Amino acid sequence: MKTYKIAVIAGDGIGPEVIAQGIKLLEHISALDGSFKFEFTHFPWGCNYYLEHGKMMDEDGIEKLSHFDAIYLGAVGMPGVPDHISLRDLLLNIRHSFDQYVNLRPVKLLKGAPCPLKDAKPEDIDMIFVRENTEGEYSGSGAWLYEDQPNEVVIQNGVFSRNGCERVMRYAYDLAREHKTSLTSISKGNALNYSMVFWDKMFKEVGKDYPDVETHSYLVDAASMYMVKDPARYGVVVTSNLFGDILTDLGAAIAGGMGLAAGANINPERKYPSMFEPIHGSAPDIAGKGIANPLASHWSAAQMLEFFGYNNWSDKIIAAIEAVLTEGTHLTPDLGGGASTDEVGQAVIDKII
Ligand code: NAD
Ligand code: IPM
Ligand code: MN
Repeated sequence: MKTYKIAVIAGDGIGPEVIAQGIKLLEHISALDGSFKFEFTHFPWGCNYYLEHGKMMDEDGIEKLSHFDAIYLGAVGMPGVPDHISLRDLLLNIRHSFDQYVNLRPVKLLKGAPCPLKDAKPEDIDMIFVRENTEGEYSGSGAWLYEDQPNEVVIQNGVFSRNGCERVMRYAYDLAREHKTSLTSISKGNALNYSMVFWDKMFKEVGKDYPDVETHSYLVDAASMYMVKDPARYGVVVTSNLFGDILTDLGAAIAGGMGLAAGANINPERKYPSMFEPIHGSAPDIAGKGIANPLASHWSAAQMLEFFGYNNWSDKIIAAIEAVLTEGTHLTPDLGGGASTDEVGQAVIDKII
């Protein structure tokens, strides 16, 4: 029997609450399948760990994680620990160290999910964001000079390398080809005269190898407007780290809310483990109440199964989520229901037989 070794970093706030549901689901599925199983190893890293030990993860944490087949992450961040420390030292550290340069975020309106857009139907909102995930605006390069002086200056560099752009764009072109859909690049070349002009140049250059893929290139301001006014125009989307971050929260808002949005941090070469997580944060406003929506963590578990090649199980999870949404009797408060995290988790499991 195949065993998948999964490193679990449940993290902070609602992270542990939603990840527990995802683990139950994965265990349920492996028991039904019978040909594979999961071995979960829990790492206590996060903000509480930081308050106790002065660090977000062990010094050799990256080395420890490198032996796993995948990482399953809840959320990181808590009032009391500066976000730029907690997120840089844990989440972004993992994305960067394991060269998880593709952040795959489906923006898909499932049947039964609420949508704030008038008249939008599930077939109108069906896109996949390929967010560049290791460089760009998140490179961490910069300087802080003359701190607290009248002449204080900060510099935050955007780093866009030929290799970094080309590989994520190639991934996006391949995905569009595979899905027989269009590819849209989102950038901002009219204002960012180095980074985004280069991005646009690379998009055209890489596109020469994909003459069969229909392409569009939008400025990020107009692109966000189209996501609301005419989401049906998008298929696969490729964009930079920061734009992808912002646009996928907008995507979550039009596709059922933060409680439904999943993301996979992929190292396509499979040299390092990939990481699967809901895209939402630790939601301190509802943490500990048992009402967090676990569906995004279910969906990211589905992405993990797809990554391992079990598309049948991944499809069954999505179908189960849709069935729960359509039935409408087991929904958390963010979706207008009165159910607990645990009840929704069980409802999804009950649909998978
Ligand atoms: P957030 O995503 O945690 O919350 C935004 C809003 O969405 C809140 O009202 C919250 O209650 C709601 N929400 C989010 N997930 C939900 C769920 N599963 N069910 C029901 N409601 C849900 O964003 P924020 O408030 O900006 O950030 C809180 C903390 O999380 C910060 O420290 C931030 O840096 C961090 N963060 C971490 C990650 C991550 O670990 N991947 C992602 C985003 C933000
Ligand atoms: C996300 C999060 C992270 C990001 C933060 C917490 C650093 O918002 O995964 O979308 O910006 O990538
Ligand atoms: Mn985000």
